[in-house]
Amino acid sequence: MPPKRAPGASALAVRLATDADADAIRAIYNREVVGSTVTFDLVPRERDEQVAWLAAHDGAHPATVATTAGGEVVGFGSLSPWRDRPAYSTSVEDSVYVRDDQRGQGVGRVLLVDLVERATAHGFHAVFARVVGGHEASIALHVKLGFEVAGVEREVGRKFGRWLDVVVMERILSEGSGLAADLPSARTRLLT
Ligand SMILES: CC(C)(COP(=O)(O)OP(=O)(O)OC[C@H]1O[C@@H](n2cnc3c(N)ncnc32)[C@H](O)[C@@H]1OP(=O)(O)O)[C@@H](O)C(=O)NCCC(=O)NCCS
Repeated sequence: MPPKRAPGASALAVRLATDADADAIRAIYNREVVGSTVTFDLVPRERDEQVAWLAAHDGAHPATVATTAGGEVVGFGSLSPWRDRPAYSTSVEDSVYVRDDQRGQGVGRVLLVDLVERATAHGFHAVFARVVGGHEASIALHVKLGFEVAGVEREVGRKFGRWLDVVVMERILSEGSGLAADLPSARTRLLT
């Protein structure tokens, strides 16, 4: 599949990630591991772990990168299995990370729109996100893309000496499922 150009953000493109993106992805991710609570990982990823993560993200569970016109990676996304047991296989979990100096410019939106499109194309029924409590940027990004809060896991994690909630957000993809039909603005935005 050729790289997709982002409407309204013509300098950005989204494509599938390759091993050559491992260092750029790892740099973006590890900054959050050591400096924020947006990921519940506590130890930075080694390069071989990042390569293994990329190898595990293919097919219906891809890893993607957003690149500038010059080819620089400014963010990445992924779809992962929501749960291991077989009856969960119609659901998928998204993840979006934008380099800290590139936020607020539409990169996250472009990555998440692309992931929702890929999840739809692969026939998934529901996309979930797990967002640390109080993370307004990620909650806002998902709401803008038609996700709703499905629930809150209270004090389910601990990092930097603090209890952390997880906000579970969900978007149903299938036509006629109710949620999508109730969100015309989000669907319209996806199509523009
Ligand atoms: C969350 C994150 C991916 C958002 O990416 P971004 O590129 O900054 O977001 P965008 O510029 O594409 O904004 C998307 C929408 O979210 C909203 N938004 C973004 N940041 C926001 C903030 N801090 N507060 C409120 N709304 C915000 C924007 O208004 C925008 O809406 P619009 O498209 O209608 O204008 C980014 O902050 C990030 O990478 N954070 C660290 C990693 C992380 O937390 N990942 C998510 C884990 S659950």
